[in-house]
Amino acid sequence: MTVRTCLAIVLAAGEGTRMRSALPKVLHAVAGRSLLAHVLGAVAAARCATTAVVVGPHHESVVAEAKRVVPNAECFEQRSRKGTAHAVLAAEAAIARGADDILIVYGDTPFIRAATLTRLRAAVAAGAAVAVVAFRPANPSGYGRLVVEKGKLVAIREEADASTKERASGLCNGGIMALAGAQALSILRRIGQKNRKGEFYLTDAVEMARAMKLDAVAIEVEEDEVRGINTKSQLAEAEAIAQQRLRAKALDAGVTLIAPETVFLSADTKFGKDIVVEPYVVFGEKVIVEDGATVRSFSHLAGAHVGKGASVGPFARLRPGTRLGDGARVGNFVEVKEAAIEAGAKANHLSYIGDASVGAGANIGAGTITCNYDGSEKHRTVIGRDAFIGSNSALVAPVEIGAGAYIGSGSVITKNVPPRALALARGRQVVKEEGATRLRELRSLGKKRKDSSG
Ligand code: UD1
Ligand code: CA
Repeated sequence: MTVRTCLAIVLAAGEGTRMRSALPKVLHAVAGRSLLAHVLGAVAAARCATTAVVVGPHHESVVAEAKRVVPNAECFEQRSRKGTAHAVLAAEAAIARGADDILIVYGDTPFIRAATLTRLRAAVAAGAAVAVVAFRPANPSGYGRLVVEKGKLVAIREEADASTKERASGLCNGGIMALAGAQALSILRRIGQKNRKGEFYLTDAVEMARAMKLDAVAIEVEEDEVRGINTKSQLAEAEAIAQQRLRAKALDAGVTLIAPETVFLSADTKFGKDIVVEPYVVFGEKVIVEDGATVRSFSHLAGAHVGKGASVGPFARLRPGTRLGDGARVGNFVEVKEAAIEAGAKANHLSYIGDASVGAGANIGAGTITCNYDGSEKHRTVIGRDAFIGSNSALVAPVEIGAGAYIGSGSVITKNVPPRALALARGRQVVKEEGATRLRELRSLGKKRKDSSG
């Protein structure tokens, strides 16, 4: 048996007016990943080797996102938005090259599963010219309705064009379709714009196929899979679903989430074994947490790698480029960025560690700040292994603290400190015997004068 070829066309030219945002709709994120990336991921998983993405004018950012996810994706511009069928025809050149199956996926339907795309392809392989994904939403408003006569799919009617009877049908169009490659162009070219909006509706492919005596079939899926995102409320609903799934997946993989409903994950969050995540933690993109680590309440992590048995938080912020070695500890109100904190090193309280490396076993005292930015450039701080940085020290980068060195608290360190050296860099302490008593006396004298003169 020869393997059937497939072209996927992702429609992403919509402005997304209902999102009320300057960002193109498909670039809005669910679980830290753009809607477009979700869809492209499903298409790739359905083993569709060629991908075309239809973008709107001036949507360079959408093209860039498509290429980031699928480097060989071909992008087509739909110059004016005249409807979903018109958008598909923007990729006419790709369709004309010929593929057995043409999958058409809307860029605003992020939960579509590869298995469903495979089912659509199977329906086409079995002889249908058009196969559409259908579902029965709790609230069908806004969706196109499937018109079924004598058990056969004969049309899809957009809500605005539907008769009362058609509208009463709970079976809706999920916005994903497969066309038989051999008939695709003749079906698409027949589609007109006789509807309320005067647009070329892809959904009319069903009626066109019927008119050509070809078969159209529907494949039913759960609502969650084809939830279309047109508004910020729908984006928030989608996020809630995505979070629920990611939490379930983490729990199934053995992660202890004490209060799962308060933990926010990204689609790419990676956990090892025996990890405890306390309530109220946010995982941004690209976080890896290794075996036995603990992430305590109210911490925010993004682009961070947490080593085995390390401890984060409560109230810690790990920004991109953070790497915590095995058993390292980052405590409350500590921010780390572009920095490695090697095995067993500790920064337990109130610190900023940016553009730095902290050697194994080093201790960073409360209030230590790496002054990495001089107002125009960033500089690095290197702290050797087992160094001790006294509380409230400012390390003015570029600067190096040698292994085993000891920095007295309150120091402002501007020059390198050799290994095992002791450095103190703060104003000398002045002590005047009974000075406090004198001060109080002077103050009360001054107050009496003021009272008598006023
Ligand atoms: C569409 C379907 C509807 C279905 C619903 C499922 C049509 C006519 N209607 O409605 O039956 O129930 O999806 O979510 O297909 N786009 C373009 N160029 C255009 C118009 C749209 O690229 O000229 C893209 C959009 O970016 C979007 C997708 O096509 O990704 C769907 O367009 P949208 O306007 O969201 O269609 P719906 O009204 O939701
Ligand atoms: Ca939509």
